[in-house]
Amino acid sequence: MFLFFLIFCKIVFCEGSDKNNIVSDRLANVTQTISRLLEGYDIRLRPNFGGEPLLVGMDLTIASFDAISEVNMDYTITLYLNQYWKDERLAFSSDDEILTLSGDFAEKIWVPDTFFANDKNSFLHDVTERNKLVRLNGDGFIVYGMRFTTTLACMMDLHYYPLDSQNCTVEIESYGYTVVDVVMYWKSTPVRGVEEAELPQFTIMGWETNDRKERLATGTYQRLSLSFKLQRNIGYFIFQTYLPSILIVMLSWVSFWINHEATSARVALGITTVLTMTTISTGVRSSLPRISYVKAIDIYLVMCFVFVFAALLEYAAVNYTYWGARAKKKIKKHKDTTEDCKIGTKVATAQSSIGNQDIIELKDVKMSPIASIRNRYNSGYTYDVDPSKYPPSFRILRTQSPYNYRSPSGVRYRGNKGNPVHKPKMFHAIRKGALVLKSSLPKIKDVNVIDKYSRIVFPVTFLMFNVGYWLFYFLE
Ligand SMILES: *[C@@H]1O[C@H](CO)[C@@H](O)[C@H](O)[C@H]1NC(C)=O
Ligand SMILES: *[C@@H]1O[C@H](CO)[C@@H](O)[C@H](O)[C@H]1NC(C)=O
Repeated sequence: MFLFFLIFCKIVFCEGSDKNNIVSDRLANVTQTISRLLEGYDIRLRPNFGGEPLLVGMDLTIASFDAISEVNMDYTITLYLNQYWKDERLAFSSDDEILTLSGDFAEKIWVPDTFFANDKNSFLHDVTERNKLVRLNGDGFIVYGMRFTTTLACMMDLHYYPLDSQNCTVEIESYGYTVVDVVMYWKSTPVRGVEEAELPQFTIMGWETNDRKERLATGTYQRLSLSFKLQRNIGYFIFQTYLPSILIVMLSWVSFWINHEATSARVALGITTVLTMTTISTGVRSSLPRISYVKAIDIYLVMCFVFVFAALLEYAAVNYTYWGARAKKKIKKHKDTTEDCKIGTKVATAQSSIGNQDIIELKDVKMSPIASIRNRYNSGYTYDVDPSKYPPSFRILRTQSPYNYRSPSGVRYRGNKGNPVHKPKMFHAIRKGALVLKSSLPKIKDVNVIDKYSRIVFPVTFLMFNVGYWLFYFLE
């Protein structure tokens, strides 16, 4: 039993030491291999120096879209960029052996001098170590990967802002090697991770890769480009800009339904809406660069401003025509009295003082449009109130009481017990109800003509403008 145990132990021990030997051999072998590879390796010369141009494959994975800035005309993305090429000097075995080495190894071998042509600012992530990898195949094929964040220029066309879509690109090129030395190409799956990328203000509608030759002062270079089509999400602007603007314009129309003698109410309403429109457009402008051309949102805001401003001007017109007409009337009255009376001025002043009294009385009465209050007031005082003395807007016309209304057809259908009875009855009930409702509402006559037309013209024009605007920008 003990013997068996000893033999077992010995076997295990021996196998362990064998394994250890193999591992250390292999380590020594790899170390040796790498040292041998780098012996006499000239890092300054590209693979296949002096011969055919070196092919460098590219692929990238989008880790995240971080920001898009209209003010700076750029966008920030985090990428994994992989470059693939073959360096025969680094071939170390004929079978499919792969060595993954630390990123530092890249400093000892030749690597492409790839750069981003539209890059503004980039940095390699170095937590916890520099995010780089080098993978060496037995036949000298190299995969060189890294992860970094880059801010890339993207000239945006904001004519249709915020109903626009942008085309932002990633431009990859070799800095020093012309097409004679290095030719870059996209791998078969050039881009990954676009579907997963999310942006708060945009939707990525698609992407496209291109390669072309770029002629620069120092030669012709191979340029790889990847472009994203980004569609701006309108939702934010609907709730932040469009809807408030529409509501403010509608608020300015309330003025048309306010008595034209309520000067303070109507002017305050007009000025408040104008100022609010100014505030909204200031807020929009703060998130945009100072572009000279007109954007879609500018058109909308300016039109809303015009509507609000026109509503204020409308009141100026109403006020002017109303007080102008009154002044004319007064002059006429004044002339009549001076011609009729022989004592002249004395009577005239008396007359005018009576007129003033009327106005004061009116103010005290605070004529309510509700007839019952007015009647109660009238019955409380002994003197007679002549309705013609009031300014026209205060005159209230009460239509016939619904209880006086007699339907002649109601009599006609009384004897009839057939089917058609219900329909006319219901119809009459509705009509009667409508009449009751109509008569219970005070009917205000003598609304200013300009107000009367404005109530129709302003909403209809605004509606037409909206239909035109949205059709134009959505069919674009
Ligand atoms: C060491 O490397 C050579 C080739 O470089 C190979 O032929 C040999 O088998 C390797 N030895 C071990 C123990 O892996
Ligand atoms: C973006 O613009 C470039 C050049 O103007 C064009 O080649 C590319 O097709 C566009 N990309 C998209 C996705 O529309």
